[in-house]
Amino acid sequence: MRIVLLGAPGCGKGTQAPLLAKKYGIPHISTGAIFRAALADKTELGVLAKQYMDEGKLVPDTITIGLVKERLSQPDCKKGYILDGFPRNVHQAEELATFGNVDACVYFEISMETLAPRITGRRVCEKCGATYHISTHPSETCDVCHGHLIQRADDSLETFTKRMSVYEKETAPLIDFYQKHGLLKTINANQSVDEVSNDIVRLLGENHD
Ligand code: AP5
Ligand code: MG
Repeated sequence: MRIVLLGAPGCGKGTQAPLLAKKYGIPHISTGAIFRAALADKTELGVLAKQYMDEGKLVPDTITIGLVKERLSQPDCKKGYILDGFPRNVHQAEELATFGNVDACVYFEISMETLAPRITGRRVCEKCGATYHISTHPSETCDVCHGHLIQRADDSLETFTKRMSVYEKETAPLIDFYQKHGLLKTINANQSVDEVSNDIVRLLGENHD
């Protein structure tokens, strides 16, 4: 099963992806997480991606597409994958179609009123990247690895505003793209984590090969 998660920054893609990956036994691939890990390791890719991420802009396609293509060619992707944050524009979606078929695109429909507090209250583990929200997890320690929780550098209100405008201009056209290909499945992302999970599983089915 090859699934694309699509939606605005903060809509809950990174929260749902690990749950779906566990349920269906396939890897969760987040381009944002790959860039953040590269940055933490101070690699050339990380330093390059940082310039774009800090400004809320997309990392150039020339870098991102090759990276995803390489990742999807690894053996653990044979049974499928959950793509979180890729594709991010029509060009990436067209390229993806050439090296990895998509079975469904789950579109997280959400209101602006729900989004802003999700972004400003988000905390992530600096060691393992697990995601929390201060409203449900006021502690500063990760439940998974006991790492320290921090705020993502691009979660300031200023950078969030820029990411939203990039989303509207470059990523939102993918809603039409996947609709036209008959692959779009829309869920109400304003609901609780459990309600969103249940809706996605209802749409995708309980089991997959
Ligand atoms: P990326 O990391 O993909 O960021 P994003 O798309 O902006 O999405 P977010 O990670 O901000 O939100 P999310 O939907 O994962 O929400 P989350 O689950 O954390 O990309 C970062 C940057 O990398 C980009 O700006 C770009 O520069 C670069 N990049 C990445 N991919 C790229 C690509 N393909 N091409 C080019 N550049 C690329 O949830 C948010 C908060 O809400 C959390 O606190 C969570 O606990 C909480 N929450 C989640 N769901 C619920 C719920 N149902 N109810 C209550 N709270 C909830
Ligand atoms: Mg995310």
